[in-house]
Parts: sequence; structure tokens; C-alpha cells
Amino acid sequence: MECAPSSTVRPTSLALMSEQRDNGIDSGGHGGGSPGGFETLAIHAGQTADPATGAVVPPIYQVSTYKQDGVGGLRGGYEYSRSANPTRTALEENLAALEGGRRGLAFASGLAAEDCLLRTLLTPGDHVVIPNDAYGGTFRLFAKVVERWGVEWSVADSSDPAAVAAALRERTKVVWVETPSNPLLGITDIAAVADVAHGAGAKLVVDNTFASPYLQQPLALGADAVVHSTTKYMGGHSDVVGGALVVSDPELGDQLTFHQNAMGAIAGPFDAWLVMRGIKTLAVRMDRHSANATRVAQLLSAHPKVTEVFYPGLPSHPGHEIAAKQMRSFGGMVSFRVSGGEEAAVRVCDRARLFTLGESLGGVESLIEHPGRMTHASVAGSALEVPQDLVRLSVGIETPEDLLADLTQALD
Ligand SMILES: Cc1ncc(COP(=O)(O)O)c(C=O)c1O
Repeated sequence: MECAPSSTVRPTSLALMSEQRDNGIDSGGHGGGSPGGFETLAIHAGQTADPATGAVVPPIYQVSTYKQDGVGGLRGGYEYSRSANPTRTALEENLAALEGGRRGLAFASGLAAEDCLLRTLLTPGDHVVIPNDAYGGTFRLFAKVVERWGVEWSVADSSDPAAVAAALRERTKVVWVETPSNPLLGITDIAAVADVAHGAGAKLVVDNTFASPYLQQPLALGADAVVHSTTKYMGGHSDVVGGALVVSDPELGDQLTFHQNAMGAIAGPFDAWLVMRGIKTLAVRMDRHSANATRVAQLLSAHPKVTEVFYPGLPSHPGHEIAAKQMRSFGGMVSFRVSGGEEAAVRVCDRARLFTLGESLGGVESLIEHPGRMTHASVAGSALEVPQDLVRLSVGIETPEDLLADLTQALD
């Protein structure tokens, strides 16, 4: 049978299957009260030595189906890998632990995770508030896909809780925010907007891709669901496309598990394993991303050809104080505007050498791009349109002086 498990039955994790509970770390599905600090959870939650061999890293269970001990006699709950796979379970438990949630789900991409969440939460006639700065693909999902099956949406500046409140309607079911946002690094006060959403009976969804759970944990601040493109900082090495959802409410977790299986856009075993591998070093990478991005933002702020810098770590950023309150540090993304308009911005992208010209973000290597022509081309003409003189940087973990030298030559 390829459609089970029932939405409420969870397969047994590798950790629970193992008789060697030798590191004393629980297997996941637990919240902030779990044993261990963030770094310890990142390395151990959901992962214990393989029960069959003792391998210290969960194996890649590259398998579609599982031998049953008699009809319905499942070992550990696994029957078909769309429904569940041990490598994916290990990642999903790890994700839940890192976000302080009770249920993590891993998908084939960030957009697949978003799609599953929206189709779980919404029915035709419902309304969604979306932010005025967001990943172009997220906007496209709302405007070109979700709208077609009868869901209405309106745009609000989510950095202003009053603007979000003003956008609410009787049938608003979801308030969606990105913080920091892509590409303008806007900051939303998660706790304040959670209050606004909950006051209207809506759920707050936070896309935590730019921050990662190491820098910010939206569920603890009142969010109902966290979304990730694990393609980015969680994977961290530009070698995998993936997505994730984490929630605290077990009932919502069950509904999402049902939809994940029913819709099918799961993370494959190798992709789940790559994301898990990346997560083990998330904390040290994010510390270096933040330190390097701070140096880059300072350099750009003092550069005569740069007209505006967007980085929440700068005291001049309008969201700086809220970011300092709800984030551990300010992350690795920096955007800036260049004097001379669109062509000047494109020229800076073309001239960069160490910063690789490319879409995506969150890898160890630095990337540069022109959002207007690349990642955010799909928002052209909408309320989310980005400035044409904007350049976005994903600041990697290379030697900071090399990064500063490259930007200096690209701007000169
Ligand atoms: C903030 C944010 N959310 C979601 C996504 C979508 O993720 P994916 O490309 O893994 O589908 C992206 C992709 O760039 C993103 O930047």
C-alpha cells in the first residue's frame, strides 16, 4: 500500500531503533527544553549510531520500499519512501529540534514546502497577507498559482504591525513574513505580528531562510509555522535543493504529514543526508557569515559609489533594534544600491571575481547577483518590485580581506 501511513502514525527514527543510546541526546520531536545547546542538537538530534552497523552518521537509505514481516508487519513503521524514509526522518527530527518545534518535515525544495503548507492551511475564498518584500518565487506562488484556486492575497509592509493589521480581512487565514527579507533585508517584529495575526484568528508563517534557526527561532516568538529553503544556509554548500516546515502544534503537524504524503514533493534520501551534513556546521558557519557580512556592510557604507546599504546589523537600519532583540547576530546577506542606476549595478556584478555571479545564497562561497534581472524578475511591475540599481550579496566564509578587496575593485 503506497498511501499510508495514517497521518497520525510516525515512523520510528533511527535513533529510537538503535539500542545504543550512547550519546544521551534524545532523538528529536522535542522543543526548546531538550537536552543540549544549539550546536549539540545540530550535531546529534535525530542522529544516533546506525543500529545495523554502528556507523556514526545516519546512512543514506536509498530505497523505495521495505520488507514486511507478514502483511502489515512493518519494522519501525517504514513501508514506502514517499510516506517516510529513515534518512529523511533523521533530518526531520533534527529540524524540529533546531527550531524548537514538535514536527519537522523535509521537502524537495523550499517552494514545495511552501506549497504543501498553503494547501494544508487554505481553502478557496480564504485570504492571505503577504509582505512587500519577499523571494520572487514565493510571490509567484501566491500570484500565479494559489490565486488560481480562489485564494485572495494582499500586500502589506510587514515591518509595520499596524500595516499588517490594516490588511487583515474576515477570511484572512495566513499572515506570511520573511525576516530578514529577500532582497531588502527588512525586519519584521515576529512577536508583534504574531499578536496581530492571532487576534484575527490567522496563523503566522515565518520564512526563516535568511536567518536559520541558529540566529532566530520564530516559533518561540509566536509563529505557527516556520518555512525554510534548506537549499541555503541549512545545506550551506550550494550542492542541494531542499525545503522544510517546522510547527509546534501536533495537529497541524499531522495535517502537514498527511499532505506531504498525499502531494509527494518529499526530500529524497541523498538530499536529506546532504542537508543533515550541512546542519552539523551551521552554527560555526553562521558566526563567520555574520562577521564577514558586517565587515562588508561597513565597507560599502563608506564607499562613495554606494548610495544605500541594507544590512540589519548596521545601527542605521530601521529594523536594527528589533533584529538585535530577536536574532543572535545579523546573518550573511547584504544588499546595496549603486550610483549610476541599473547598468552600474549590473557592471558591479559582472566585475566581481571572488564573489561568483549567480542566484541562490547561503553557501560557504560568496555570491553576487542583480535581483531585478535575476532572482526577483518575477516581481517586476508588482508591489514587490525591487530597485533596479540594487545588488545582492551572499557573503561567504572566505578570508574577509579578500572579499573586501574584490568588492573594492568591482566598484572602482
Ligand atoms: C527566502 C526564500 N524562501 C524560499 C525560497 C525558495 O526555496 P527553493 O529555491 O529551495 O525552492 C527561496 C529561494 O531562493 C528564498 O530565498
